[in-house]
Amino acid sequence: MIDPATVQKIKDTADIVDVVSDYVHLVRRGANYMGLCPFHNERTPSFSVNKSRNFCYCFSCHKGGSPVNFIMEKEGISYHDALLQLAAKYGIEVEERELSDEEREAQSRREGMFVANEWAKNYFIENLYDTGEGREIGISYLYGRKVTPEAIKAFQLGYSLDKGADFTQAALKKGFSLDVLKAIGLTGTSKEGHDYDRFRGRVMFPVLNSAGKTVAFGGRDLKGSPAKYINSPESQIYNKSKELYGIFQAKGEMVRQDKCYLVEGYLDVIGMWQSGIKNTVASSGTALTDGQIALIHRFTQNVTLIYDGDSAGMKASIRGIDMLLSHNLNVKAVKLPDGEDPDSISSKLTPEELKDFLLKNETDVIRFKINVLLADANNDPQKKWLVVRSIVESLAHISDKIKRDIYIQECSNLLEIKESVLSREIAKARVNVIEQEKLKRRTQEIERDFPLPSPYPVEEERIVVEKTTAFYQDSPLYFLEEKLLKDCLKYGFFIISDFNDNAEEIKTILDFINEELSIDGITISHPEYLRIFNELSNLLPLFKKDVIEFRKNLEKIINQKRNEGFEEIATKSLSINEIKKEEDNLESRLDNFARAQTDEFCKNYIIDKFGSHEDDLIRKITNDSVVEKHRLSSFFTKNKDPEDSRRKVIDLVLSSLNILKNGIIDEELKKLMNELKNLDSGNTDKEKELHQRIGMILQLRSRMAKDIGDRIIDPNSVVTKRNN
Ligand code: CTP
Ligand code: MN
Repeated sequence: MIDPATVQKIKDTADIVDVVSDYVHLVRRGANYMGLCPFHNERTPSFSVNKSRNFCYCFSCHKGGSPVNFIMEKEGISYHDALLQLAAKYGIEVEERELSDEEREAQSRREGMFVANEWAKNYFIENLYDTGEGREIGISYLYGRKVTPEAIKAFQLGYSLDKGADFTQAALKKGFSLDVLKAIGLTGTSKEGHDYDRFRGRVMFPVLNSAGKTVAFGGRDLKGSPAKYINSPESQIYNKSKELYGIFQAKGEMVRQDKCYLVEGYLDVIGMWQSGIKNTVASSGTALTDGQIALIHRFTQNVTLIYDGDSAGMKASIRGIDMLLSHNLNVKAVKLPDGEDPDSISSKLTPEELKDFLLKNETDVIRFKINVLLADANNDPQKKWLVVRSIVESLAHISDKIKRDIYIQECSNLLEIKESVLSREIAKARVNVIEQEKLKRRTQEIERDFPLPSPYPVEEERIVVEKTTAFYQDSPLYFLEEKLLKDCLKYGFFIISDFNDNAEEIKTILDFINEELSIDGITISHPEYLRIFNELSNLLPLFKKDVIEFRKNLEKIINQKRNEGFEEIATKSLSINEIKKEEDNLESRLDNFARAQTDEFCKNYIIDKFGSHEDDLIRKITNDSVVEKHRLSSFFTKNKDPEDSRRKVIDLVLSSLNILKNGIIDEELKKLMNELKNLDSGNTDKEKELHQRIGMILQLRSRMAKDIGDRIIDPNSVVTKRNN
């Protein structure tokens, strides 16, 4: 770790003109310097460097930033490595700060995991070439799938022997610890206590991070096991939602071509690579995440999604599209002919034909989405309305107003809707998107300060959100309900009151949310989410009993620690005042310890119970709700005030609740307005009643706006605020 003072020194020393000049020929223009942008191809300079602000920016592709950002982008390296590179340039000595024991332990454990994975990768490679089983089963399978020897080498493919614990025994003999082997998911332990290889008789695909380190493996079954792939669980070195398969092999070409192809699976990446399309990565069958998009963004802004000939995957990834749009990427899509995937088509076409096909058939993603959805809607007005909603939702994710306006023009033609209507709807939807983005940033902040334990490693690795995200199109509220539900699954059992070992006095975040919902007469409208909510609430009484029990045991530990502490103080020769100070100190340490332990217990309780629940949806959504966390090492949280974190958590859940309420109000308002519009002209009573209700709701809305404080409800004001 670089100590903060040195970081500051590097930042102060690095001069943007100097740094950029290593890559770009700059010419002085007034107060600034200009040059050809190093991030995209251009003939006239749009890359501007501002010396006084120590900042660079491309007016055309919008890349740039501080010297550190510039190096990160240009070299495709991490923040830490960019700092080191700048330090080397300016001859600044970097004192990697002394790590505390705890940090060092975490660090060396991480390193141990990398070393073990590296060793395992080579072990699997040797198996593939140097054993009869590897050649007869592994290689012949790969050749059968038309994988070339060059690709096997480039992707470092291997084979795990079909022997109970062959790998584990070799690894233990080599000196790797069982603990590490289990943490990275190479070894499992049976109920009877036998250690076995988790990957047996499988072709091994190592997952490399962008720096080329092996963070995980995917093992493809060759003998008809129900789990086609087994994947490594998340670990200290593998955060699934931040990695993309193939990134290491693809990144150079992604920068050169300024473009990236996104496919589904391991073999798709390899097939594309064999056809010379080396700028291809895969999200490995899961829904795309923010972290993965950020990874792509480090190398290019242009992404083309490749969809299989059957459209199931296409529908599932519609939210992925919105996410790409909100990250300011230029997104295109190509649909392959029926029944083909990138892997199969790459062995049927010559590389030139494939390249040609992809370029000729890629369509802007919004147009693509409209075509796909409209074809499905068959002119049914109800379905067509859903298409419009879904497109509105997508467009609302685009933050660039000009880009949005261009789309509005085009979509109004395609959807046969007036531009003014479309743009009004988008403005409204954009309010929610901005809220959601705000919320997401806040969540990320909290999760950084307050990491959650990892979910249980699951054998069938494919925990995808498919099932949960597919609902969104039906009602705009479902998304908001899911957010609240996920918050409750993460934080619902946090205790927000003092309790003196009295169950009645325990008030959790979930109690609070339930109260709020019942005061406002709100029920969760999605039946599945409602069911999970109810299950969670039913768990509360048991939890309260358990937490009291937990606290009783904790009390014993604390008493013991207190006695030890007193004894230790007594052995020192201190003045009365000093003793008193030491004792106070001890008490507050014990207090913090108790709090932290209790929080930990509450945090883990739901994950323990629901993370391995027999109900598929409950299990998935619970794991899903904790899987996107940011897992920085725990030392970040050690010095944090627990009360502060707790307040943040409450704040977060509350805002999810408020956003849901707001969504409900908006829906209700829409409904009433519609009724009013369609009212027969003579019906004055009804009209009066409607006006009254609308008035009430508007009042409620503005009161809520005050409650929420910084929230701005009027869509127009938000939109203009954003755009200037
Ligand atoms: N996947 C997974 N677990 C599964 C199935 C799929 O992790 N049980 C991931 C893998 O990363 C896989 C990707 O999803 O590469 C795409 O799935 P699929 O198309 O089913 O697999 P392919 O890799 O194309 O395998 P194959 O062509 O051999 O069937
Ligand atoms: Mn396939």
